[in-house]
Amino acid sequence: MSSSQTSVYSVMIRGTVWFIMLLLCPGQLRAQLGTTPHIKHIVVGRCYDYITLVNPSLRFDCEEIWRQFEESVVHQSSCNVTLDYHQMFDAIPQTLPCDRCLFWSKTRELMHSYKAHLRHFWTLEDTLVGYMFNDLVWCGQEEDSGFDFSPCPAWAACRHHPVYSLWRQASQNFAEMACGNITVLLNGSIVNAFNRKSMFGSVELDSLDPCRVDYVNIKVVTNLEGPFIESCSQGSIVDLIQILQARGFRWTCTDNDETLMILQCIVNPKQSSCQRCANSFSHRKGLTFT
Ligand SMILES: *[C@@H]1O[C@H](CO)[C@@H](O)[C@H](O)[C@H]1NC(C)=O
Ligand SMILES: *[C@@H]1O[C@H](CO)[C@@H](O)[C@H](O)[C@H]1NC(C)=O
Ligand SMILES: *[C@@H]1O[C@H](CO)[C@@H](O)[C@H](O)[C@H]1NC(C)=O
Repeated sequence: MSSSQTSVYSVMIRGTVWFIMLLLCPGQLRAQLGTTPHIKHIVVGRCYDYITLVNPSLRFDCEEIWRQFEESVVHQSSCNVTLDYHQMFDAIPQTLPCDRCLFWSKTRELMHSYKAHLRHFWTLEDTLVGYMFNDLVWCGQEEDSGFDFSPCPAWAACRHHPVYSLWRQASQNFAEMACGNITVLLNGSIVNAFNRKSMFGSVELDSLDPCRVDYVNIKVVTNLEGPFIESCSQGSIVDLIQILQARGFRWTCTDNDETLMILQCIVNPKQSSCQRCANSFSHRKGLTFT
């Protein structure tokens, strides 16, 4: 085998191993990982990518952002960096476009295809912080000046996990900045579609500002094949609506949004509900699908 074949092969094996680990122990996956190798190059590279190609209007110093991030993490216990990212966050203020914020919980895959089709949506991943740190793992070590590349503690094992702390702060900032109409994508095929322990239920919802947000538009989406557990009038989503009402938000809630169903049918066209869709959609006028 040539060396490139070998490396392709080893990547495939590694991919397979990861996939199996994901299947076997989703909760433990993060616990197995130490700081992502090459994290500095990844973060600084993504930062340059973002300010050069994704959002060229921003003027940030990527090396400085890295320095502030590193300062917060290293020399800290791997469970104890809760508030220390403030310096970095303060250095990269970002305003969000109104009417475009998309929040989601347990709908990650569908959220990505929804966003890819209706290009105007913004999620946390579209902000500089989200873009830089997406899918990365890190933790420091108290006795040493570097990152810990041996396994980092699991989120659940820490009161203030370094990765969780950053996402928590990023999610809070994102929700505080949200304005105009916002969209919330929830999974009606699970119990507790609105979960008070999720990032949306524990951080983002409480950070939304009723004076900045015009409407909270909830979309409940189930798997095409079910189960059909929760809806706008059933289960935890009713609690969400009550909370919104009590805080003075205007809201709408939609079950079975057409666009979301079509996106699921594209992936899975043989589903019986997609055959029905195809018939009824073709008779409808004005359904623009971009
Ligand atoms: C957490 O950090 C603070 C200061 O950053 C320090 O005083 C405290 O001892 C640390 N606690 C642990 C458990 O490492
Ligand atoms: C709902 O959650 C389940 C379990 O996490 C997942 O398998 C499914 O893809 C989700 N459905 C949608 C529509 O996102
Ligand atoms: C905001 O949401 C409301 C309710 O869904 C809708 O009537 C209105 O047209 C939306 N406005 C914008 C700017 O999208």
